[in-house]
Amino acid sequence: MSRFSVSLFLALTAGVQLQAEAPSAEQMAKGQQVYMQVCFACHQPTGLGLPNMFPSLASSDWVAAPKPDRLIRMVLHGLTGPIKVNGQPFNTPAPLMPAQGLTLNDEQIAAVLTYVRNSFGNQAPAVAADQVKAIREAEKARTAMWTEAELEKIPVK
Ligand code: HEC
Repeated sequence: MSRFSVSLFLALTAGVQLQAEAPSAEQMAKGQQVYMQVCFACHQPTGLGLPNMFPSLASSDWVAAPKPDRLIRMVLHGLTGPIKVNGQPFNTPAPLMPAQGLTLNDEQIAAVLTYVRNSFGNQAPAVAADQVKAIREAEKARTAMWTEAELEKIPVK
């Protein structure tokens, strides 16, 4: 390949990737709606949570992970502590996040995670309903909430 066609190829593939990953306005609006129905009560409309009660979703390593495979699982089945956020133990008297897998469909979970990953100063790739669908299927035998140790075995890179 000539240098020209190599750079054209790189520009095209970069463009395609950006298109696939950038959140649409529609998905962000739907995600905000779900967030303001389900997540805001604990993580607050600002996403900052409440100190020693609910962890912040702003600048969280969980939220910013390249792949959403842990986030999807924690929303589907819930999460029970203790957990660390950005390497720091998060202390709360109620280390429990409720499962939403029975109340939210794949599109709603993809939208709310896309919203969280692109709000509160965060910027991370959008989540597609197909990704949620695949993980829901792969974990269909699961009923228990996730723990941090279990989630850490799920690759996100
Ligand atoms: C009833 C309160 C509650 C609700 C509702 C809730 N969460 Fe949580 N969330 C928590 C708690 C508490 C933790 C920490 C759990 C632990 O210590 O195991 C947490 C942890 C998290 C984390 C990992 C820690 C961090 O700061 O990044 C993410 C991401 C998250 N929640 C996203 C969401 C999303 C998205 C929703 C809505 C679909 C949601 N949560 C709904 C209470 C809640």
